Amino acid sequence: MRKAFAPQVSIVTGGASGIGKAIAAELVGRGSHVVVADLDLAAARATAQELGSRASAVELDVVDAAAVRAVVDAVVAEHGRLDVMVNNAGVGLGGLLEELDERHWDKAIDVNLRGVVHGVTAAYAVMRTQRSGHILNTASLAGLIPAPSMLPYTTTKHAVVGLSTALRAEAAALGIRVSVLCPGFVDTPLLDSMYEAPASFGGSSVRSRVRMLQPRFLTAEHTARRAVDGLASDKAVIPVGFLAHVSWRALRYAPPLARAVIQLQATGARRITERAAGRAAGGAGRRA
Ligand SMILES: NC(=O)c1ccc[n+]([C@@H]2O[C@H](COP(=O)([O-])OP(=O)(O)OC[C@H]3O[C@@H](n4cnc5c(N)ncnc54)[C@H](O)[C@@H]3O)[C@@H](O)[C@H]2O)c1
Repeated sequence: MRKAFAPQVSIVTGGASGIGKAIAAELVGRGSHVVVADLDLAAARATAQELGSRASAVELDVVDAAAVRAVVDAVVAEHGRLDVMVNNAGVGLGGLLEELDERHWDKAIDVNLRGVVHGVTAAYAVMRTQRSGHILNTASLAGLIPAPSMLPYTTTKHAVVGLSTALRAEAAALGIRVSVLCPGFVDTPLLDSMYEAPASFGGSSVRSRVRMLQPRFLTAEHTARRAVDGLASDKAVIPVGFLAHVSWRALRYAPPLARAVIQLQATGARRITERAAGRAAGGAGRRA
């Protein structure tokens, strides 16, 4: 018989916005106290206030391993346990490889990968002692299938899927569960704030590019419901949305077809980028 899912204490990193905020709300709805941990303290406080007396806020930069450990330890000191750790904080990055530099790679690796490693390590130490707990890492559909024109993003998200699925096997004997969330495109501020976006990938072009692949965005609320249902049923990988289900299965069961579609996407992305670069050069020429 599966144990009932009744978390008492949870932490959600990147919990002040988008998917993290919606997961925090779902967990509060399931009866958990939720600590909303975010770089943006004002937004974290506003979220906690919205969620009511079962939520609290803390400022946290997941890039700082000691700070992550301190937050986890403080939560355990105050509440006596940690049932769910959601390592969700992340940043969006886009652009062809030749448009990106070290800053993009550093940002992606620091936040999207190291940030998750820090959360996993800190929570695992507590959960090993408890011999219980559930770690949920937010990856992406870009962690299951190659996402051309977003290399730092897809690289780190694949790493998060690998980390999560390997740790799940390692942790099982200790009574610790590990799941990874892999949604398609979700309508959140992330789509409007790509880190240091090259001109061709900035502003509204992200949303219009995304619509070519996935005409309707998922909502954060739907994604969060699927995520927490996935925790309750202890799913290893939680894909969310039609695009995620179809493309993940296509890559496993019809790899040549999936690779052909991914190649089409890459070719389209290059065409869009080169057109944008041509327009920018034309504009600069006219101004000169
Ligand atoms: N939006 C999508 O289409 C989509 C799809 C798949 C996966 N994801 C992933 O979901 C997660 C949440 O993204 P979202 O779409 O809700 O974005 P969002 O921008 O709405 O929220 C991200 C939150 O993370 C916080 N954050 C950023 N850097 C941080 C850091 N160093 N330390 C602590 N907090 C930090 C931000 O302040 C923000 O509150 C990310 O890991 C993202 O990669 C997003």
